[in-house]
Amino acid sequence: MEMDWQKIFPGVWNFQAGENDVTLTGFAGALPAAELRNGSEYPLPENVSCRRFNDSIVLRISLNESDRVFGGGLLFQRVMSDNAVYHLRADHFRYSDNGRSHAPVPFLAVTDGLGIFCNSPRPVSLYIRTAQRLEDQKQLVERSRADDPQWSCFNPPYYIEIAVRAKGAEFVLFKGRDLKDCTAKFNLFCGGGALPPKWGLGFWHRTRMEMDSRAVRAVVDEYRKHDLPLSVIGLEPGWQSGAYPCTWDWSEKRFADSKELIAELLQDDIRVNLWENGYISKKSSLHSQLLPFAGSHLVWGGIVPDYTLPEVRQIIRRHNEKTHLDIGVSGYKLDESDGLDIWLWPDHAEYPSGLDGFTMRNIYGTLFAATTFESFHKYDRRTWGLTRSVNGGGAYLPYVLYNDNYDFREFLTALVSSGFTGALWCPEVRGADNGNELLRRFQLLAVSPMLLLNAWATDTFVWSFPEVEAGIRQAIELRKSLMPYIYSAFAKYHFYGIPVYRPLAMDYGMFMDQQTIAQAELDDTENPYQMVSAEDVTDQFIFGETLMAAPLAPGETSRKVIFPPGKWYDFYTGEAVACASGVQVIEYGADAPLPLYAPDGAVIPMEKDGELVIRKFGDKPGSFELYEDDGETFAYERGEYSWRTLNA
Ligand code: GAL
Repeated sequence: MEMDWQKIFPGVWNFQAGENDVTLTGFAGALPAAELRNGSEYPLPENVSCRRFNDSIVLRISLNESDRVFGGGLLFQRVMSDNAVYHLRADHFRYSDNGRSHAPVPFLAVTDGLGIFCNSPRPVSLYIRTAQRLEDQKQLVERSRADDPQWSCFNPPYYIEIAVRAKGAEFVLFKGRDLKDCTAKFNLFCGGGALPPKWGLGFWHRTRMEMDSRAVRAVVDEYRKHDLPLSVIGLEPGWQSGAYPCTWDWSEKRFADSKELIAELLQDDIRVNLWENGYISKKSSLHSQLLPFAGSHLVWGGIVPDYTLPEVRQIIRRHNEKTHLDIGVSGYKLDESDGLDIWLWPDHAEYPSGLDGFTMRNIYGTLFAATTFESFHKYDRRTWGLTRSVNGGGAYLPYVLYNDNYDFREFLTALVSSGFTGALWCPEVRGADNGNELLRRFQLLAVSPMLLLNAWATDTFVWSFPEVEAGIRQAIELRKSLMPYIYSAFAKYHFYGIPVYRPLAMDYGMFMDQQTIAQAELDDTENPYQMVSAEDVTDQFIFGETLMAAPLAPGETSRKVIFPPGKWYDFYTGEAVACASGVQVIEYGADAPLPLYAPDGAVIPMEKDGELVIRKFGDKPGSFELYEDDGETFAYERGEYSWRTLNA
């Protein structure tokens, strides 16, 4: 197929393959950020081709042997996406990275700085360094497995193939210096990352779903007694007169005094966040208004409004504003927009806008988030909330992903992989079998986008296991003290598109040497094809400008930490822990706080008793851009903010 790439910004091109069709960014309401105009110029990449066969459009990118590929949605078991196939679809993660994802974002980034976004909510499949085409056979070097130790199940030439089943699709290419630069351009294309209100980064507690306003007050009292400042109380399904299906109306039985409760809590600087899902009960005050705009299938007996319609958004905004925002509600947890096939609508469901069930599923979380965000924006009040699904275009929406799984390592890997999705991930704490588990979970959570104890079905508190309470408080203190650093990182996400949470490869490239990447052992059950994935660091990440975290898992007292080349310092003691020109792998042995490291030259602005405290690591000169604004409104959109350069 002829490709007609149009340059839309420096180093950013788009191409409409086939007919015009709906887009992810269109549904998200995402507009490219003006900052894209300041990007560096690059020549149009030449390694891209496109073809159409039957009902599929296939974009093909040829790769160099040393190229590695990242992205393809939120992943829980891997971060590098080489040799992967993802059939993207919004879904609850079910124990395997196969494209069913809370963020099935069709964005891929290659280590040479090329980003590719398929801006389509239709069925998209990503084939990454997998099959070759017939015409490649001439150049393939065949090796015989039994005779040649160099045999591999993956061989050059390598490609990415993106197949979309649609009458047309928009593709966007982003060229930058490296993985970070092209991903930043992608985030800016989606409006720039969300900037949280400062209170959103404080401590969150979600209460048991059956609690009434008295019980909620009692929880708040517990926090007071334990001298732990609470920033947000989350109310789960029981705040409504009915759920699931949802009424979105206050329960007169449990929350007759909702207005007083919220006012009282606000006096103490505590916000209220409301749980909802999008499936409306016939007992809801909204039902008759929304019924004409409902899709063909029910979910949990509730109607599924078509959020693509302006009428629906208006009805919902009016309701939310009158019954929630006007009395001080600070935001929402938008649940169950992701799936499970068995209770969601089928792919063949029909919506009044003409969309089918498959397409609607891929955008439902984003639409839901955009609708609520519109109201907060209108009220000039920032919000920070939770959603169970979001897609391409959603980077600007102030919502953090979560799910019902609870595997520590998968939660950690999701935080690492989120850097390539334009979405944020919260490794929430719900409960623990023992004190050590609670401590380890809180240590990870403390550096995540939301410090959330989701006790919707448990009686967990920070003080549930007295032997680790001090350690958990230390983790919470760490987050608090790092606020100027973290908040500036979110500002860079917003203004420059740089993800707050990044895999090591995003900052340091593929820095490992062959010695570090041990050959994979043949195992006839676990690894019959001897696939090597040692380059994929799934349990360490950079957050903010420079800090590297290597969290300990429950039960661990030491772990292997990989240091990219250069000098590294222990964040707590300031001692040098790694000083090499090559990669170092060090066993970290202290059974203490979250392992945290700063590279040579790192400047870290912190906060102590309301004062700014600046730490500097190593010998190299360094600097930091410190961001400040009112922390609460959208005044920053009107230019009311400042960047200060801290030089050391
Ligand atoms: C789940 C959600 C939980 C909790 C629960 C309430 O699906 O993931 O965090 O909100 O619903 O019913």
